[in-house]
Amino acid sequence: MMEVKRFLEKNYGFNVDEINILEGYANINYKVKNASGSLFVLKEYTNNQPLFNTLQAETRVLMKLNNKLRDKFPKPVANLSGNFLTVSDDNLKKVYRLLKWVVGDFFYQTEHTHQLFSSFGKFLAMMDMELLQINDETIEARRMDWDLQYLTEIDARKDYIDDPNLRKYIDHFFLQFRENVLPVLPILRKSVIHNDANDWNVLVKNGKVTGLIDFGDMVYAHLIQELAVAITYAIFDKEDPLEWAALIVKSYNQVIQLKQEEVDILYYLIAGRLCMSLINSSKAKEENPSNDYISVSEKQAIALLKKWVQINPEKAKTVFRKAVGLKPLKIESVSSSIIKRHRFISPAQSVSYNLPVKMAGAAFQYMYDAYGNTFLDAYNNIPHVGHQHPRVVEAGQRQMARLNTNTRYIFDILAEYSEKLLSKFPEPLNKVFFVNSGSAASDLAIRLAQTKTGFKNVMVLEHGYHGHTRQGIEISHYKFGRKGGKGQAGYILKTPIPDTFRGPYKKNDGTAGRQYAGLAKDLLKEGSAPVAAFIAEPIVGCAGQVPLAKGYLKNVYPVIREQGGVCISDEVQTGFGRMGSTFWGFELQDVVPDIVVLGKPMGNGHPLAAVVTTDEIADSFDNGMEFFSSFGGNPVSCAIGKAVLEVIEEEGLQQNALETGHYFLKMLNELKNRYEVIGDVRGNGLFLGVELIKNIEILEHHTQLANHLKNKMRDNFILISTDGPKDNIIKMKPPMCFNKQNADIVVDRLSKLLTSYHT
Ligand SMILES: Cc1ncc(COP(=O)(O)O)c(C=O)c1O
Repeated sequence: MMEVKRFLEKNYGFNVDEINILEGYANINYKVKNASGSLFVLKEYTNNQPLFNTLQAETRVLMKLNNKLRDKFPKPVANLSGNFLTVSDDNLKKVYRLLKWVVGDFFYQTEHTHQLFSSFGKFLAMMDMELLQINDETIEARRMDWDLQYLTEIDARKDYIDDPNLRKYIDHFFLQFRENVLPVLPILRKSVIHNDANDWNVLVKNGKVTGLIDFGDMVYAHLIQELAVAITYAIFDKEDPLEWAALIVKSYNQVIQLKQEEVDILYYLIAGRLCMSLINSSKAKEENPSNDYISVSEKQAIALLKKWVQINPEKAKTVFRKAVGLKPLKIESVSSSIIKRHRFISPAQSVSYNLPVKMAGAAFQYMYDAYGNTFLDAYNNIPHVGHQHPRVVEAGQRQMARLNTNTRYIFDILAEYSEKLLSKFPEPLNKVFFVNSGSAASDLAIRLAQTKTGFKNVMVLEHGYHGHTRQGIEISHYKFGRKGGKGQAGYILKTPIPDTFRGPYKKNDGTAGRQYAGLAKDLLKEGSAPVAAFIAEPIVGCAGQVPLAKGYLKNVYPVIREQGGVCISDEVQTGFGRMGSTFWGFELQDVVPDIVVLGKPMGNGHPLAAVVTTDEIADSFDNGMEFFSSFGGNPVSCAIGKAVLEVIEEEGLQQNALETGHYFLKMLNELKNRYEVIGDVRGNGLFLGVELIKNIEILEHHTQLANHLKNKMRDNFILISTDGPKDNIIKMKPPMCFNKQNADIVVDRLSKLLTSYHT
């Protein structure tokens, strides 16, 4: 300290009263009090030419700001030679500068009020009015890590984020930045900006923002970036971050009128800055693991990022537009959208809910409608690893830009993906045929079985559903046996569903399974010819999420095989880890099928489906007639399918299905204990059903209540559905990233609705 004291006396000619080191900065900063009580900051840097030039530029900016706006920004103090930078004697290794201390409490230390936030916006705008006048070549030429306009250039640095369940949000917002921000940036105004108005740099007096320090991150960038950075840190820990952000935007706009294109990208810029902050802090943490400040701010940033993804970007746009007096986006009403749809689309393609939802976007387990609402998706299992999962989207984009062709050519990703997919199956399931839908897959599965066995008949389960093709309908009691159906075809044998809640046999310790299998056996005996195949889902979705009675398949499969047929498991709904305890539904029954039908989750929404079978069955199909699917197994589909499998593994989604599913089931069972109308709660992992009944004695279906709950939940922005022969079962099969808090929300809402339904 004595050295510093001597340095100040020698170069700045004042008597030092007190010196303290200021913590938390990359360079060394001293707080200095002189004999007359004035406060200063002495900054010490390791000298180099680019830094020296930057410091000179900083001095120029600070002088200009101080000329216009007094006592708000650090004012450079000249040394005795009249220079604002002082170079050390020891071969010019160090460079120093002295700044006048700006008085005030830090933003993070003060109570956050609306007045404070409004004053913050105004303060920033007043500063930016001055900065807009400045042309500075040094700053314009500057490239630095913390410059949001170059966010995507730190892409490789995302690898510092180890946690895949955090990384996915960062990947998501990088992708959204690329899609929504980069194309707009070239038309936006630029300026020198402070670029770091975080809560450790903003100073407050009497409840208002009065000062800003640390101009070390100044860049020449888009003006709106200034606001994005400031807002990002100000809204940490806020219950309703968007409303607080709007206060800053509104008051800023009172001084500098913001343009529509600027406010429209603010949502993505804030997310981008959060990501940047997390990436850079992960990097810093790796370099300096003991820095507590990094960890504290990191936690807040992660919490905000997870909250931000739940905000519909359209809502953010509307809120920010309103804050600057711009009209909200005009969006066609749902009713006129429906009228338009019906001009082109048959009403046979039904729309869910009394009040249909007009969707505009989605992210993971959240869906955004066109009107700014966010829906919690507790229903859609097709976006298996989460809606628009960035890994999957990018895998598709990349491959689509490179090559998309068909399986008549050799391309490595077909074999790579097939190998990865087949590694998930037990022996002897080691061949795959790729197609584009579950229907095409079940259709092909039946053909494979019929070709292999030479038989035609097929045994199916009551209430089962396997597809919409002619073949699909014929093997789906859910279709041929219901409204509009043509009844059972001659070659179909329909065996009773082994339902231990509603069926005649209820002892689910293996007894009922054997009894139901006995019924299938009797049916086979009665049949005129052997069956080529028996097809069933391990949990029958369209029957209302009915798990097959314990031991059922273990007793049925041998009977089918004995009479020369093959066993097909339809895993379109139950596959890919959704069961939690197992990767495939058939594993719950401790059997290995001969053919497996895959679909829905396989491509996370991309039309990708497959049939997996044994060498023997696949060989028997190679009978001279080529199997070719124009789109099945194309490189884009393979890239997407492979990304889905990787995400399931990396994000531990099967384990999540197990834990969250277990918790969800437990909470639903608690609900069952409280409400008599819940007759049964069932399912595995994240594939659950809640059966509603009017009367436990006769198990009278409560279709009306199921319909009421489905629609009311929708009105409460939660997506569930109903199914079953009487449509009285609530079906839940959310994206696999669904978490316990999400489950709590669903159960809590259901509980409230059930209570109000009774009273
Ligand atoms: C069990 C099951 N199998 C097959 C299908 C048919 O799949 P897709 O709609 O892709 O043709 C479905 C679709 O809902 C299904 O649930």
